[in-house]
Amino acid sequence: MSNSNFPKTLIQNPSKSADDLVILGIETSCDDTAAAVVRSSGEILSQVVSSQADLLARYGGVAPKMAEEAHAQVIDRVVQEALDKANVKELDLSAVAVTIGPGLSLCLRGLDTGENSIDRLSNSRGIGVQKARKIAGTFNLPIVGIHHMEAHALVARLIERELQFPFMVLLISGGHNLLILACDLGQYLQLGTTIDDAIGEAYDKTAKWLGLDLRRSGGPAIEELAREGDPESVKFAVPMKQHKDCNFSYAGLKTQVRLAIESKNINAEIPISSASSEDRSSRANIAASFQRVAVLHLEERCERAIGWALEIEPSIKYFVVSGGVASNQYVRARLNQVVKKNGLELVCPPPSLCTDNGVMVAWTGIEHFRVGRFDPPPPADEAEDTIFSPVNEEAWTSSMSIWIMNIGNLASSNFSRPSGEMV
Ligand code: KG4
Ligand code: ZN
Repeated sequence: MSNSNFPKTLIQNPSKSADDLVILGIETSCDDTAAAVVRSSGEILSQVVSSQADLLARYGGVAPKMAEEAHAQVIDRVVQEALDKANVKELDLSAVAVTIGPGLSLCLRGLDTGENSIDRLSNSRGIGVQKARKIAGTFNLPIVGIHHMEAHALVARLIERELQFPFMVLLISGGHNLLILACDLGQYLQLGTTIDDAIGEAYDKTAKWLGLDLRRSGGPAIEELAREGDPESVKFAVPMKQHKDCNFSYAGLKTQVRLAIESKNINAEIPISSASSEDRSSRANIAASFQRVAVLHLEERCERAIGWALEIEPSIKYFVVSGGVASNQYVRARLNQVVKKNGLELVCPPPSLCTDNGVMVAWTGIEHFRVGRFDPPPPADEAEDTIFSPVNEEAWTSSMSIWIMNIGNLASSNFSRPSGEMV
């Protein structure tokens, strides 16, 4: 995994010490095209995000081909803007970091998953990878392959410099619900995951069915409307009450919401802005009731996971919540209560670092680069159409240096650390 054999003379800027790194991070694994330049001191020199929210709003989802084209159209501009704003040239960089995983499911949520969508999606993520390899090849820079979910988790260490391993992480996004014990860099114990949909997907579908404005994605629209509603008015069941584990499920709650919307005769074709005041308040009640139960499910699983994690690592002090849904103020406030009650401290990155961004990729690149996990510069004349997909991953040696160990159902107190398998 590590690349300690890589000759240091090949690094463009050998004079730079591990404490004085400048890394460009590129993120194109989902709907947004993002780039940022970050210093190893934690200084964010620039951050640029070009959103596909308009496409999402227009089509109620982004088809893979559309996502790929949108990334391809803006990638050069986004990266150039990140360099310009940071006032650095490619030659000033220590390395380029780029998201290369996890699997395609991240991008497939809510999308038109046609027969060839997997190939098309790997191309979509490949837009960022191609750009990163082009820069790294041209300017003789090392390259660091980044796991998207690890980046969401580790950006918390940029925000809270006291945050040492081990710590706990809840990652909540459009495609993932993960409860993790972060043991060390690249070593993660998975305490729970979703057995079907992630919470962000439930927010997005609820917003769509309620006829909300999706231009900023469904989550913020629900959060805003929920403030007008009565969270106790519609009785939704909290998922998985009978399962005494740390897994999640949001498919059933989505169905409950859909049925409630149908029973109130809410017509999503009528945008909320044109709804009567009675219609608006019934939509707000559903939004508030959905949000309350969706978050109660998080609270219950987090409470149990803290108990499990403290049995394994009693020294844990921090609980990180990150991913797009973590930018929600209600989610943050409720989880803060649970975390505090259990003697830990919550670390939640600011909203712009919770949703997909280039800073988290650059920062995770710094973390891996410091310990020697990176790949040598690609050949300067590498063909542009070289495909870097899961089937061609031998092209990366530092990549996917992330171990997620699944501990399944851990209830006993005489627990010893499992050996785990890489997923
Ligand atoms: O991490 P992210 O930007 O992209 C993925 O990796 O999926 O997360 C996007 C998800 C979307 O489902 C979006 O609706 C949700 O995060 N989200 C929110 C909020 N802001 C974004 N959900 C609830 N409340 C918010 N304020
Ligand atoms: Zn994400």
